[in-house]
Amino acid sequence: ALLDASPKPLSGRKIVITSGPTHEPIDPVRYIANRSSGKQGYALAAALARLGADVRLVSGPVSIPDPAGVKTTHVDTAREMKDAVEALLPADAAIFVAAVADWRTESEEGEKIKKVAGEGAPTLRMTENPDILAGIGHHVLRPYLVVGFAAETRDVVQNAQAKLARKGADFIVANDVSHAGGVMGGDRNTVRIVSKSGIEQWPEMGKDEVAAKLAALIAERLKTVEV
Ligand code: CTP
Ligand code: CA
Repeated sequence: ALLDASPKPLSGRKIVITSGPTHEPIDPVRYIANRSSGKQGYALAAALARLGADVRLVSGPVSIPDPAGVKTTHVDTAREMKDAVEALLPADAAIFVAAVADWRTESEEGEKIKKVAGEGAPTLRMTENPDILAGIGHHVLRPYLVVGFAAETRDVVQNAQAKLARKGADFIVANDVSHAGGVMGGDRNTVRIVSKSGIEQWPEMGKDEVAAKLAALIAERLKTVEV
């Protein structure tokens, strides 16, 4: 048999990662969701697995196959995603790539809401979803490394720095999505790594390349931590 000689700097490391959108039901046939293909999170999960990590992916509904070598749990809602992530602790690192719906309807209708001609549109009462990343960033079982993502249309760095502090993350992978039609669903990405020690701008590259570079960065950060 051929020996796999590729280095495995993350062997023995358990890494939890969220990806995809969440779906928040309105009634049995309708939901509210964010725009997310799941591609960046899946690519990162696969890249971490290639470096030897025990990767636990918690994914919202997506149309791409589970990444190779990764234990994947499928969920629909933000609350299900939060429960699934917490059930996977303790872990060495947690990475939050998911585009979680910020709000859900206050109550899900048991029956399909019927359209009645001339009666007007229904009003949805919304309530805030839990912030999964902030919960883990301040958790008693906080992983050594906590990483968030942020898609912004303006003030990218300021917004990412505010999220870094508020959510208790070690770094935020910030994304400018103002030039619409690009990042969401596409195969390329331009990111900045925002941490307490500064901002690192990466050039535009494929999502797989972003994933490989991020996996290497995570391996570097975990190197000094005892297994
Ligand atoms: N996140 C999360 N749970 C939520 C909302 C966001 O875990 N309920 C995570 C995302 O996975 C991402 C980071 O927090 O890693 C930033 O998400 P983002 O939507 O940019 O931040 P919000 O705090 O929701 O702020 P806003 O949408 O107003 O920009
Ligand atoms: Ca949000």
